[in-house]
Amino acid sequence: MLKMNLWDANWDLDVEVCPCDVHFNDWVKKQKLKNKLIYHFGTGTHHVIGIQQAINKSGNTVFAITASKGEYDTYIELSSKKAQVSKNYLAYFGDIYLTNPKLLPDFDVVTMFHLCEFFHPNTASKSYGGVDDAKLLDMFTAKTKPGGYILFYTRSMAFDRAHPIILKWEKKGQVKRVGEFKTLLVFRKKR
Ligand SMILES: C[S@@+](CC[C@H](N)C(=O)[O-])C[C@H]1O[C@@H](n2cnc3c(N)ncnc32)[C@H](O)[C@@H]1O
Repeated sequence: MLKMNLWDANWDLDVEVCPCDVHFNDWVKKQKLKNKLIYHFGTGTHHVIGIQQAINKSGNTVFAITASKGEYDTYIELSSKKAQVSKNYLAYFGDIYLTNPKLLPDFDVVTMFHLCEFFHPNTASKSYGGVDDAKLLDMFTAKTKPGGYILFYTRSMAFDRAHPIILKWEKKGQVKRVGEFKTLLVFRKKR
């Protein structure tokens, strides 16, 4: 059995360098989204999306992945200290490329901010059992409810690789481009 492809780092909030999570919270506020189930790719140590959505009385709930042991430790610390946050925000540890759709519900909003940033050479091999970035996007599109939103981060360090995948995906006709909000690119799944 192969080892999981960990993300061997911890990412603290630095809005100058990587504002996507803060911009996402701004977008949710602007859209006045309430009682939505959000899937978030990449918690960071700061959990700013999970915490903000848990405490802003929106009724929104967040399910988020991290592939970093250190970041997951910060979630354990957070949820053990703040029960109300853990009621509305669930972070889990795993490699998103190993996602098994049977384990996930359907979401109202999905963030794909770090598409193409962390793909390893062995990810889509038979022995590892993962998917490539295009298939990952298809999988999460299938897990997005009709009328739900899928968002990308235009300043991602891998956006030059993610962009052609996004354009090809858009051409399949399942989604409609809504437009840009700050550093984010927003699509909506057709009904
Ligand atoms: C650069 S950090 C950004 C964190 C946060 N979104 C932000 O902008 O502040 C990248 C995030 O992606 C997560 N990550 C990296 N590779 C991953 C993978 N294969 N599966 C799931 N999450 C992964 C890391 O754990 C980390 O939370």
